[in-house]
Order: sequence, then structure tokens, then C-alpha cells
Amino acid sequence: MIKTSIAVLLAVAAGTAVAQQPEFVAGMLSTVPSGYALASLADLQSADFLNQYNSVGINYVQPFDAGALCCVVSVQEGFASIGPSNSFSNYLQPFHNGVGACTSNTQPNGTTFGIPSFAPGPYEGMWISNLTSKEQAGFRVTGLTPSGANFNECGLSGAATTAIYRMIPPKYIVQIVGPGFPVPSGYAVATLADLLSVDFQTSYNTAGGVVMTASDTASYCCILEVSEGWVGYNDAAGVSPLGLFSESMEDVLCGVGQDRQLVYIGTSFDGPNTGTVFSTFNVSVTSLLGTFNHQNFTFCSTVNASQTLLKRVSTSKYIVQVVGTNYPAPPTSQYTVASIADVQSQDFLDFYNTNGG
Ligand SMILES: *[C@@H]1O[C@H](CO)[C@@H](O)[C@H](O)[C@H]1NC(C)=O
Ligand SMILES: *[C@@H]1O[C@H](CO)[C@@H](O)[C@H](O)[C@H]1NC(C)=O
Ligand SMILES: *[C@@H]1O[C@H](CO)[C@@H](O)[C@H](O)[C@H]1NC(C)=O
Ligand SMILES: *[C@@H]1O[C@H](CO)[C@@H](O)[C@H](O)[C@H]1NC(C)=O
Ligand SMILES: *[C@@H]1O[C@H](CO)[C@@H](O)[C@H](O)[C@H]1NC(C)=O
Repeated sequence: MIKTSIAVLLAVAAGTAVAQQPEFVAGMLSTVPSGYALASLADLQSADFLNQYNSVGINYVQPFDAGALCCVVSVQEGFASIGPSNSFSNYLQPFHNGVGACTSNTQPNGTTFGIPSFAPGPYEGMWISNLTSKEQAGFRVTGLTPSGANFNECGLSGAATTAIYRMIPPKYIVQIVGPGFPVPSGYAVATLADLLSVDFQTSYNTAGGVVMTASDTASYCCILEVSEGWVGYNDAAGVSPLGLFSESMEDVLCGVGQDRQLVYIGTSFDGPNTGTVFSTFNVSVTSLLGTFNHQNFTFCSTVNASQTLLKRVSTSKYIVQVVGTNYPAPPTSQYTVASIADVQSQDFLDFYNTNGG
């Protein structure tokens, strides 16, 4: 049974957060895990990476292949190493509990980085059991293919190579936005057209809803908002405002501590069509959606922050990544190799100058 709630948060029981995929995982360089993109050196140097490394470590989402193994950790720019300079550094290897973890047909979890005792260099035999910003600052990519004793398979075409992947942020999220609750970086408030778009329908139907993040505030309006205003369903028959529902479709989600869970959109707050939950988004749903005027609605008159649909905007348009033997290009759905005309374009020039590189 669906219960209608009033639209201003009254601290209803917190929903059970759906377990999220870790932000960083390890896998084989040849196979990009779905929902992830190859991490960059800067990603390994981020605070998020440090936090995950020191709390749960990095899990392999695929096992090591049975064939040739190149036991060096890879990122977008190439093989990762640690040291004060390019010529004075050691290649990083996956370690588990202080020993190398690079064995055919195994799929280790909770891995960290280390340098085996038989790898010559300044940090020979060092295990980074706890990552600090000092070590992160020493991470580098020298541009050289590892060779010699422990690394002679790295030059072989098709050698299984560990790569670190970072989760691609969801394209659409719902988050509280208003005074004191800014739009998170990398996102912009979606328009009604975004909500009605085929792109949103595909995203919603593939994921089974939309990800709701950060609801840790005591007072907000739970009517779904886009840049034009609150969204209502079949307003011709009388406004039925949209809200968010749990996976079971029974609970209206309008509380605190509901960060990072998949939610359904439905009509939760009064009106003739209240209690309709959209398990899928399609034209028969979107053709009846519109925005309505805040002034006409007594709900939420005391709060200005609302659950707002946001759209990701920050995927870097241009990246530099090693492509070649052992280094497949990223999926064409993410990136294609640029042409000389791309590099000469005004768009590239603007991007380069805006982003400082
Ligand atoms: C690591 O976790 C994955 C997924 O839960 C599991 O399939 C795999 O067996 C685990 N590996 C080890 C060595 O425990
Ligand atoms: C790991 O390093 C952090 C600083 O990055 C420090 O606060 C923490 O105490 C260290 N943990 C251990 C177990 O050494
Ligand atoms: C369109 O979406 C609605 C709401 O989720 C659903 O009830 C209906 O079956 C869908 N129609 C089609 C043709 O998939
Ligand atoms: C909203 O208010 C305006 C002016 O007060 C009124 O003309 C209009 O009919 C109202 N709309 C609805 C849906 O109640
Ligand atoms: C909401 O916004 C209006 C207009 O900007 C302002 O007058 C009012 O004080 C705000 N209410 C709250 C609770 O912040």
C-alpha cells in the first residue's frame, strides 16, 4: 500500500542504503569493467583513493589470466612507479598483506601496492601498507616499459596487466539543492527537457531508477525539482507532484541518511494521480510531465531546498592516454582517438586554456 506523505521532510525512517560499487577497482588492462574508466595518475593521488586504499584496499573485479603476466600497476598514462624522479623510482606492484599478489587465475581482494625485494630501485622491498599523501606525491609514470628480471613479460603483446579503474559518476542524480545546499561539482541542475529526454529514459530504465545522494539535512522539500520548477504529473487533471520511492515502491523517501541509493520516481504528494510509481520511464510517462508554479502550492512553502534532478556535465572532453601494445583504447562509447583537426580546433584550444592543460 502506498502512503501519501506531506512534502516537507518530517524525518521519516531512513531508507536502507543500497550497497554501492567501490569507487576504485583493479582489473585487467584489456577489459574495462562496466561502469568504470581507466584511472589516471591524478586519480591515484586523490583523497578518495587514499581513503579507499587505507580502509578496504582495491578489489580485483576480474581474475589474472593464465598466460603471460606483467606485474605492474597501470593507469591511463602508463605504468605507475614511485620515487623522487623518473630515473630513480620503482614500478608499483599489487600486494596483499605484504606480499606480491600477481598470480594467474587468482582474484585478490583488499590489495595494496608494494615493490618486490628483487626489483632494483630506491624502494626495493617496500610495502605501502598505509598510504599517505607523501607516497601519493611520489607516484609517477615514467613512460618506459618495464624490463629486466621481474618484468620481462611486460613487453609481450597480450600480457595480462593490472589496471586501476575509477567509477564513472552516474549521469543523473537526485540531490537536495537550495540555499546552503549547492549543486555538487561536475553536475548542473537538469531542465524539464532533460527529464523528458530519451537519454534520461535509457539511464533510468537501465539502472532501475535514479541515484539519490546526500539527504543529510533536517529540512527540505521532497517534491522533485528541475530548473523550471517542481514537476507534476498530468497537471491538466490537477497537480500530482513527483517524489521519490524506495525500490519496493512502497515507501515515499523523504528523510535523512538516504545517501546513495537507487530510487524510483512517482507521484507521492497529493493530487488525483497520487501513488503512481514509474518502474520505467517512457513516452507515456513523460508526455504527462510538466512543471507547476511554487506559488500555487502550499506544500513546501517554508523551505527553499528541494530534491533536485542533476545532470553530469564534467566528463573531460579530451584526455591523453597510452594506447598500443597491451594498452587498448578506451571503449568508443567513452572516447575516440582525436584527429589532428581536433587538436587544431577552437574547441580544443578553449578546453586546454580553460582547464589549464
Ligand atoms: C574477491 O571478491 C570477489 C567478489 O566478491 C570474489 O568473487 C572473489 O572470490 C574474492 N577473492 C578472494 C581471493 O577472496
Ligand atoms: C595511515 O596514514 C594516515 C595518514 O594518511 C594516518 O592518519 C593513519 O594513522 C595511518 N594509519 C596507520 C594504521 O598507520
Ligand atoms: C511505460 O511506463 C509505465 C510506468 O512505468 C509502465 O506502467 C508502462 O507499462 C510503460 N509502457 C510501456 C509500453 O513500456
Ligand atoms: C495558479 O495560480 C494562478 C494565479 O493565482 C491561477 O490563475 C492558476 O489557475 C493556478 N493554477 C493552478 C494549477 O492551480
Ligand atoms: C525562501 O526564499 C524566500 C525568497 O527568496 C525568502 O524570503 C525566504 O526567507 C526563504 N525561506 C527560507 C526558509 O529560507
